[in-house]
Amino acid sequence: MKWESFDSYDALSARAAELFLGAIHADPRVVFGLPTGRTPIGMYERVVAICSREYHCFTEVTTFNLDEYAGISCDHPGSYCAYMREHLFEHVDLDPRRAHIPDGKARDLAAECARYERAIRHAGGLGLTFLGLGRNGHIGFNEPGTSFHARTRVVSLTQSTRSANAGCFANGEVPTEAITMGIGTILESKSIVLLVSGTGKEEAVARLRSGEISEAFPASALHLHSNVQVLTS
Ligand code: GLP
Repeated sequence: MKWESFDSYDALSARAAELFLGAIHADPRVVFGLPTGRTPIGMYERVVAICSREYHCFTEVTTFNLDEYAGISCDHPGSYCAYMREHLFEHVDLDPRRAHIPDGKARDLAAECARYERAIRHAGGLGLTFLGLGRNGHIGFNEPGTSFHARTRVVSLTQSTRSANAGCFANGEVPTEAITMGIGTILESKSIVLLVSGTGKEEAVARLRSGEISEAFPASALHLHSNVQVLTS
């Protein structure tokens, strides 16, 4: 695990955008795993700003989002689908057929999870996956206690995660379930960049630095991967 610390959120975002665009330059057909949340917004802003000056940027790129709330559709402002449209998809030449997000409104959520895993395999597997870090160490929506072998599935959200993500929902309307890529799915990505910024993450960062590997702390699964960069600010 390689660590890089930055003095500011802006500097972290600039470095993350450099890694993002570097991956496209190295392989225009790169398959990204993509996060949501507050942390990656600065990275997406920079990627969009730079790509808007280039003719083809995302033409052959494929993306898979890590997760989506269950029970809400893409039109809901709190959905990760809406987030991705706002922060990335509407601003770049990414083919909508290659921009994948689990369908939280699917009638059969288990079938949707299986379909998502197949789609990742069909695309050749994840190349570079960016992750954010939940205060309790969650990655995607893999909460403490998740098996490191877990695949894409429906999960219940902890109260702390629901409160942390309450901003986009009217009172008490934060969904209770979500679809998330599993830790096993994430660990199959060729490389991983974990972005850590924001208040209340100090304890999780210290725990990750400690080297402890335990399913009680989902992000610690990243110690089992040989190509992980952690960017902190
Ligand atoms: C949510 C997302 C995670 C994200 C986390 C941290 O729970 N499902 O993928 O990493 O929030 O979000 P933030 O960057 O807003 O702290």
